[in-house]
Amino acid sequence: MVADGYFDEQVAARYDESVPEMFDPGVVDPAVDRIAELARGGRALELGIGTGRIALPLAQRGVEVHGIELSNAMVARLRAKPGGEAIGVTMGDFATATADGTFSVAYLVFNTIMNLTTQAKQVACFRNVAAHLEPGGCFLVEVLVPELRRLPPGETLVAFHVSETRWGIDEYDVAAQGVTSHHLRLADGRLDRLTIPFRYVWPSELDLMAELAGMRPRDRWGGWNREPFTGESRKHVSVWERPDDSS
Ligand SMILES: C[S@@+](CC[C@H](N)C(=O)[O-])C[C@H]1O[C@@H](n2cnc3c(N)ncnc32)[C@H](O)[C@@H]1O
Repeated sequence: MVADGYFDEQVAARYDESVPEMFDPGVVDPAVDRIAELARGGRALELGIGTGRIALPLAQRGVEVHGIELSNAMVARLRAKPGGEAIGVTMGDFATATADGTFSVAYLVFNTIMNLTTQAKQVACFRNVAAHLEPGGCFLVEVLVPELRRLPPGETLVAFHVSETRWGIDEYDVAAQGVTSHHLRLADGRLDRLTIPFRYVWPSELDLMAELAGMRPRDRWGGWNREPFTGESRKHVSVWERPDDSS
């Protein structure tokens, strides 16, 4: 793995166009609404800020946003966009890196908690977030529900995207609680391949990580529009808060 992690120059150069559905206002706007509500006029910290898909529209709403990010190549794309220069970014691993000051809300969207590939690193991330939050501050995570129910016995592969030019296949290692995402893309007659390892994580496990970090559950929705979280939900948006002992 190179210094920029899995989001190197080649990946960063086509990140936005490779996930156009994630830039749809129908996806971005409610996410920005929820995070702006939790910011309550204070500062927001995005872990894995990337090219600014959420950070830039959030900043346009008047929220002061700061990011933590591993990839210089992704931050270069953020910087190249209008308003991108004004957003502070701490370069480093969001499980351990320290940003200056405290925040009303920290958020980790688009399954990025799964980029931490051990339980210990995911727990460290919760502890790191708690150390950055003001009393009463919140941590929001958007992440998929592990798709084990779609795996017939003996199978390890689940297709998560199939189109004319893009294919995405998740390869589960159930014993290790790992999933490797294989992305294949046909462009200009060439087949590009990107393989990224993840650690899938259960909602209840995240609640325990929050508790270990001194935070308590506040909300769990099935989506950004506060849809109920049910047994059929494919993802969840969960919020924990750092108790305000003074109130
Ligand atoms: C799927 S992208 C999401 C980017 C952005 N949050 C969005 O929603 O479009 C994941 C981002 O997290 C960054 N990342 C992954 N693991 C990281 C880590 N341990 N520390 C800091 N950044 C990390 C990657 O470099 C990448 O920019």
